[in-house]
Amino acid sequence: MHIIVTGGAGYIGTHTCLELLQSGHAVTVIDNLSNSCQEALRRVERLAGRSLRFFPADLTDPAAVDDIFRQSRDAAAVIHFAGLKAVGESAVKPLLYYHNNLTGTINLCQAMQRHGVKNLVFSSSATVYGDPASVPIREDFPLGTCTNPYARTKAMIEDILRDLHRADAAWNIALLRYFNPVGAHESGEIGEDPNGIPNNLMPYIAQVAVGRLPQLAVFGNDYPTADGTGVRDFIHVVDLAVGHLRALEKLAQQPGVAAYNLGTGHGCSVLELIAAFEKASGRKIPYRITPRRPGDIACCYADPSLAQRELRWKAERDVAAMCADTWNWQSKNPNGYRSDAG
Ligand code: NAD
Ligand code: UFG
Repeated sequence: MHIIVTGGAGYIGTHTCLELLQSGHAVTVIDNLSNSCQEALRRVERLAGRSLRFFPADLTDPAAVDDIFRQSRDAAAVIHFAGLKAVGESAVKPLLYYHNNLTGTINLCQAMQRHGVKNLVFSSSATVYGDPASVPIREDFPLGTCTNPYARTKAMIEDILRDLHRADAAWNIALLRYFNPVGAHESGEIGEDPNGIPNNLMPYIAQVAVGRLPQLAVFGNDYPTADGTGVRDFIHVVDLAVGHLRALEKLAQQPGVAAYNLGTGHGCSVLELIAAFEKASGRKIPYRITPRRPGDIACCYADPSLAQRELRWKAERDVAAMCADTWNWQSKNPNGYRSDAG
């Protein structure tokens, strides 16, 4: 199949493009490189031993998007990763987030509609559940109160896509609600390369381990969890990537709109992740306990059984593998994709 991948140069996009190429699919990437670089795509091609087609375009430019679809007549489906994702920045620049994520998605769907491509896999997030009443979280739980504009863009896009299917039943849409993607491809050639100081736990730990940052702040140890620190469902990015291929196969059965949790079903605390990373890397991770980060919840992990039943997908890699692969990527590329990476 020919798959169009928006945001394909990013963290999850690169891993998914690699799986697509390795499974024999043709891949067209649309990415404005606002949070990524073309070197990541070159590495994907090298690993796959195959090339992909890349358009450096912005989804907020409707003419550019339409033109790409005009040049992609045999496209069967779209995987839509492109979006801005920094929670804190979204509170400071809400209009940027609403414009980029919502306008970009609407432009994309309009082009898809015009060109008769009506199969879509969307990158949603566990953040749409807000602070869940209980764990593990099932897809039929009520959607929660979103605490930031980024989260609201995900909830709003889910609504837009449901409306689209209500208006035209020919659309098939998988809303994939990711839990906490971490790790890297086992080659250590591609991985997460955040701009500036990381907001998320795993890349922060990795940069402390490699000496780029001096110390980790653990945001609170007074949560009602076993060790008092936050608990999350960390999922290996390669497992997540494979989930997208299973979702594409599901769309071929014309399921309409369906939401799926992509997580492992296991909670891991901040302190447990630090210990697992120390073991995988052989490095000490200095940390100090600080007050809670506003908006954080105590505990969040998936019930992934719906994806297992309907997508025939299950996460296979454990926390030890997530840490080992993150460390392999970070130690081989201490400055990420930048060429000054010693
Ligand atoms: P990422 O920033 O690495 O990748 C997103 C890509 O989209 C980047 O390459 C960026 O340049 C591109 N992009 C952004 N706006 C664009 C636009 N207007 N036009 C064209 N390209 C654009 O992020 P990621 O971690 O790979 O996340 C991919 C998707 O998954 C995002 O939608 C994100 O919100 C969602 N998600 C991520 C996580 C996570 O923790 N990483 C969790 C839940 C959901
Ligand atoms: N944490 C720290 N120190 C840090 C960073 C994080 O202690 O420097 C803690 C947080 O308090 C939380 C846990 O580590 O308990 C995980 O935090 P992350 O920032 O890595 O991830 P979140 O669960 O807060 O959010 C992530 C993405 C969201 C997404 C959500 C669910 O950032 O975009 O997962 O998919 F919506």
